[in-house]
Amino acid sequence: MPFGYRKLSMTASFSAAYRLDGANVTMVVEVIAGTPAVRYWGPRLPDDLVLEELSALAARAEANASPAVEAPLAFTPQAGQGFPGRPGLAAHRGGLDWASYALLVDVEQGASRLAFTSRDEAHGIELVHELRLLGDVLAATTKLINRGTAALQVDHLAPPVIPLPGFVGEVIGFEGRWSGEFQLRRHQLSMGSWLRENRRGRTSHDAFPGLFAIERDANETRGLAYGFHLGWSGNHRLVVETLADGRRSVAMEALYLPGEIMLAPGEGLETPVIYSTVSDAGLGGVSRQFHAYLRARPEHQRLRAKPRPVHYNSWEAVYFDHDTAKLMALAERAAAVGVERFVLDDGWFGSRRSDRAGLGDWQVSPDVYPEGLGPLIEKVRSLGMEFGLWVEPEMANPDSDLYCAHPEWVLATPPAPKIPFRHQLALDFGRAEVRERMYLDVAALLEEYPIAYLKWDMNRDLSQPGGADGRAGATAHVKGLYEVLDRLRAAFPAVEIESCASGGGRADFGVLARTDRVWTSDSNDALDRLSIQRGFSHFFPAELMGAHVGPTRCHITGRQLSMPLRVATALFGHMGIEADLGELDAQETADLAAGVALHKAHRALIHSGALHRIDAAEGVNAFAIVAEDGSEALVSYTMVEEQRGYFAEPLRLAGLDPAADYELKVVWPPRLKAEWPLRDGGRFRGAALMQAGFQPPRLHPGTALIFHLKR
Ligand code: DGJ
Repeated sequence: MPFGYRKLSMTASFSAAYRLDGANVTMVVEVIAGTPAVRYWGPRLPDDLVLEELSALAARAEANASPAVEAPLAFTPQAGQGFPGRPGLAAHRGGLDWASYALLVDVEQGASRLAFTSRDEAHGIELVHELRLLGDVLAATTKLINRGTAALQVDHLAPPVIPLPGFVGEVIGFEGRWSGEFQLRRHQLSMGSWLRENRRGRTSHDAFPGLFAIERDANETRGLAYGFHLGWSGNHRLVVETLADGRRSVAMEALYLPGEIMLAPGEGLETPVIYSTVSDAGLGGVSRQFHAYLRARPEHQRLRAKPRPVHYNSWEAVYFDHDTAKLMALAERAAAVGVERFVLDDGWFGSRRSDRAGLGDWQVSPDVYPEGLGPLIEKVRSLGMEFGLWVEPEMANPDSDLYCAHPEWVLATPPAPKIPFRHQLALDFGRAEVRERMYLDVAALLEEYPIAYLKWDMNRDLSQPGGADGRAGATAHVKGLYEVLDRLRAAFPAVEIESCASGGGRADFGVLARTDRVWTSDSNDALDRLSIQRGFSHFFPAELMGAHVGPTRCHITGRQLSMPLRVATALFGHMGIEADLGELDAQETADLAAGVALHKAHRALIHSGALHRIDAAEGVNAFAIVAEDGSEALVSYTMVEEQRGYFAEPLRLAGLDPAADYELKVVWPPRLKAEWPLRDGGRFRGAALMQAGFQPPRLHPGTALIFHLKR
């Protein structure tokens, strides 16, 4: 098949099926009652399968007390078709034209792409559903065009709704809080809806726009699992609906506030992209397919072009207490332990001596840096490091020159008083003049200084997102942000940008289309980080995951964890350090330097290998990163809690070449105290390591081992 699709028995009435294939997945789209719908989304089907078999297998008789013919669960389930569940589109013109009944009028087929146009002349509605298969990941959007003669108010519009087989009965949601992002929570599905809404205006810490849906007993390595994600950095709604007739589906959409979307005649609205993939190799299979998709994107290639530089970030060392001499001394210590990029965090500009003032004034503070940032940057570069800078352009402190000059530039809902939130207000990026000003301010910095990296932060919710004309402006803000980021990237293509929002509050494929790294969480507590990073890894690969070695006593949890553990956790991401290096003792400094060296020795593998999370014993966190060709692997094994028995369970590895022999070596920690027959390593067959596993040593809680395996 030249284009990766197959069209069957096409007739004028579109009674056809269309097929998209990846290496591991197949999607079959069928036209049912005049509307396109997913007939099959699952593991790869045989090339020669006659697709009509799928409809024959799914055919159902008339149900009791039900319509004679079921209304289709189409890409956009429609009120006008009598769909008994949640419609994919809710729109009207002053209460009229609400029952859309758009029928297919055109199908376009391209390489791994299908586009279906449906029209409802009576209600002036056109829908275009576009599906692309990128590797094994489906990326799909819905576009609505107002073909009527009056404005159309859109209450919601979902990208194509995707049915789930009835035997997929469990949802895993990703929830959390500041400093505790990406926590998994399992939910059994029952009749009705599993609903998660986010109205914080940014992707959020507590309602990550993604979910897994799995069949009973699926785990990391086995069973059917689906992954879904909405590539959008604002308000969203995730719905998994189970109808009384047993049909089940996933809808993910941008959440529009009242009146936020009003389409003039001829105007269109395109949804954010819903991403989905499916695997019968369990949750791990889904994650690896998401990772492969992200890694194959054109915008990812620049990250592969050079090793991801090890960071030093000034935040937890100095907070707002900037002093050039101290920062230069930190830069020297950072370079000495192997850092390659020095990032100057919050506090360098305007009157920003605390979080109460200065946001919005993006001029270097003459009080703190009388000669500008030049001397510090020169020092950093003379030590062989790149320089990075923190900014938060979407915000203003009321105590700032910017706010005094333009109090009308912030989002607000008068007469309600503005809700305090870290002493700052959100600028309205829906306004062209705000976007222009922030673009110019950031561009001026990039033009003046050799800045390799921007940490783009965003530290409050859009709690009262009223825009200039009094209308809700949350969606316009996100689109405005995307526009400014795109413009900066076009003008300064070499500058990397990090997406940070009080840690991991803005991690999604939408913002990642214009950024290069996510600040995963403000928590540098190595044990908390293990679960945060594990959650994050369900969607994102290691090279996008900012992971820093924190101070001896974690500033957020107050917990004191050893340097070898802190290194072992940070080493598996885009590694960095965020601590006052002057406070570390000689042993900690030596261990840190050894950890950075270990990361550098293996970062090519960490940043390109296939992640295999391991279903280890309770209280143990384990995973392997295996080279694409199976030639080597790095295995992380952390004792999080004391074990009940004398010994931990054997650890079964995953992802190795079963037929190959591997040389196993313990490469971390630098001083392993435990008595253990395998401490000097050995040579083992991949099949034995995966089927029988090996006996780990007895370890204190808070101890991590890293193994290297070489074929
Ligand atoms: C929140 C970020 O997550 C931190 O890393 C730090 O940059 C602070 N903001 C600075 O205000």
